[in-house]
Amino acid sequence: MKAIVITQPGGPEVLQLAERLTPQCQPNEVLIKVFAAGINRPDVFQRKGNYPPPPHAPADIPGLEVAGIITEIGASVTRWKIGDKVCALVVGGGYAEYCTAPEGQCLPIPENLSYIEAASLPETFFTVWSNVFDRGKLQPGETLLVHGGSSGIGVTTIQMAKALGSKVYVTAGSDEKCTFCEQLGADKAINYKTTDFGEEIKKLTDGKGVNVILDMIGGDYMPRNIDSLAVEGRLVMINAMKGREVQLDLGKVMAKRLTITGSMLRSREIEFKAAIAQNLEQKIWPLLSSGKIKPIIYKTFDAKDASAAHQLMESSEHTGKIVLTFAH
Ligand SMILES: NC(=O)c1ccc[n+]([C@@H]2O[C@H](COP(=O)([O-])OP(=O)(O)OC[C@H]3O[C@@H](n4cnc5c(N)ncnc54)[C@H](OP(=O)(O)O)[C@@H]3O)[C@@H](O)[C@H]2O)c1
Repeated sequence: MKAIVITQPGGPEVLQLAERLTPQCQPNEVLIKVFAAGINRPDVFQRKGNYPPPPHAPADIPGLEVAGIITEIGASVTRWKIGDKVCALVVGGGYAEYCTAPEGQCLPIPENLSYIEAASLPETFFTVWSNVFDRGKLQPGETLLVHGGSSGIGVTTIQMAKALGSKVYVTAGSDEKCTFCEQLGADKAINYKTTDFGEEIKKLTDGKGVNVILDMIGGDYMPRNIDSLAVEGRLVMINAMKGREVQLDLGKVMAKRLTITGSMLRSREIEFKAAIAQNLEQKIWPLLSSGKIKPIIYKTFDAKDASAAHQLMESSEHTGKIVLTFAH
């Protein structure tokens, strides 16, 4: 099969088209003929050599989410059959014509969605469900702040949290991105380059703060995140793009009884991911079918142009998701 491989750690140009053996299904897996594969920021970190794949993932083929048709099923697979159209969360190997996935990490493609749209869903939907609703325990009527509102994670968070009844504030790096986030449903988008988000959150919440913050920035955002949380607030970290070492006033954590937590999805066990898939299918998939939540595709690239797709992601010009396509 054809695959996009990381030839060595480096810039976008190290992504090259190569021939690889088609992967074999384990008993609990399906083999998917991939028509589209989503790109996520963790793929960029992996390409640079800063995010090594877990031991059981393909060593040099990136890609955490795919959509396509099942062409083979493992001996113990019960739910799926050959010919089913699925999207799947995978531990790596998504930038390829064929990819295996544990059966519990596959979800049916809603009838109204294309392969490209379906491929844009798993990584951010699993991550947001797990971190905002399971770890962050966001409740209807509560208020959420998500940094990077126009990112793949951001557009998913805005839509899911609004659909489930929360007020949503976001930060983004330009006025255009802010307008985009508000059109998608955010109650207020803060241009963090021109406005101090901490001051703005204070104004927006009459000094009370928000109940949950989803943050991938870290660094100097930490003190303002702590100040922006309400009593009993929850801060959920999913990355620390501006630095892992932070300044933290523990007095404020105690005084407001805050929870600081975080997680990384990729290395978690199959059963954990399968449980998230069940929640998504029950609570979120109907909202995709009805059109209340929509995949947000910024641009697609033929798989052979994966380098250009990574270049675009690193420019941070995009709003929403970037997806690779495979012609077969
Ligand atoms: N823990 C997990 O399990 C998990 C899973 C998936 C993703 N993630 C993380 O979630 C984040 C978003 O992923 P994604 O795929 O949605 O990425 P993405 O679409 O590329 O979005 C990243 C956004 O972050 C902002 N940004 C980039 N560099 C920044 C910096 N140095 N300082 C401040 N803002 C910066 C940019 O928006 P602006 O232009 O508005 O600044 C950019 O649009 C990534 O950090 C990724 O590693 C974590």
